Amino acid sequence: MEISFQDKVVLVTGATSGIGESTAWLYAKAGAVVFLLGRNEKKGRQITLSMQEEGLRAEYWHLDVRDEVEVNSVVEGIFKKQHKIDVLVHCAGFGIRTVFTKLTYADWKDQIEVNLHGTFLIAQAVAKKMMEKNYGKIVFISSGSIITGTGGGAPYVAAKAGQVGLTRAMARELAKYNINVNVIGPRNIETPMLSGVYSEEAKRELLEKIPLKRIGGPDDIAGLALFLTSDVGGYITGQFILVDGGRTFS
Ligand SMILES: NC(=O)c1ccc[n+]([C@@H]2O[C@H](COP(=O)([O-])OP(=O)(O)OC[C@H]3O[C@@H](n4cnc5c(N)ncnc54)[C@H](OP(=O)(O)O)[C@@H]3O)[C@@H](O)[C@H]2O)c1
Repeated sequence: MEISFQDKVVLVTGATSGIGESTAWLYAKAGAVVFLLGRNEKKGRQITLSMQEEGLRAEYWHLDVRDEVEVNSVVEGIFKKQHKIDVLVHCAGFGIRTVFTKLTYADWKDQIEVNLHGTFLIAQAVAKKMMEKNYGKIVFISSGSIITGTGGGAPYVAAKAGQVGLTRAMARELAKYNINVNVIGPRNIETPMLSGVYSEEAKRELLEKIPLKRIGGPDDIAGLALFLTSDVGGYITGQFILVDGGRTFS
């Protein structure tokens, strides 16, 4: 057994920033043909150009995961071009902190729409294509906050917990098509999302709470996704795996 992604077709959502961007780089360096899916066209094209300059195989395609028509046409288009989809790493997500009693129904719906409905749309479209080939690996990026909760994050945490339920249901149904579905729960990973919530001082205080004494990097998540979607991780399915430097158990 080996960890090889040579010629594997890999789709990464939310690939224009943070964890998604690092994930796209890691797969491309491992030999995969990577499709960077995201909304920020300028950033998406910049990243793919840098990859191509290094001789890696990558393309940017516009994708808003809330748009059912766009999700289906992007997945159809990539399948038509590559004749298979081997891996999906679904990183797109966002959260806004609002005190629970001040949440509007519109805020609630926005976050559920991106984080949970978007996960359903991309996962179902990709799973149908993987079933045709009797092979596939899917990883969702949820959040460690589903275990601890987080102040002001009710819709985000609810949607992220929903991704774990979806993972279990999909893993059970899709196993007979040789498709693995797993979900990663990051906590305190250095990305624009984290910087939106923690000031530099708050990050220093955060370090005290992390047994490994460092804030995680996007590669800490990308590396686990790579393992879970490789043949080496082939007997793992339906699992939620926390990546938090030991913070949650301490
Ligand atoms: N960093 C952490 O500590 C941490 C902890 C727990 C969970 N997570 C999860 O990890 C994932 C990646 O987050 P990150 O930390 O890398 O943050 P990030 O740098 O803000 O990246 C989030 C990505 O999601 C994309 N996105 C948001 N809404 C979208 C939509 N409707 N359609 C398509 N793409 C959309 C963003 O694109 P735009 O730029 O176009 O908005 C961006 O590329 C998220 O699901 C997040 O919830 C992160």
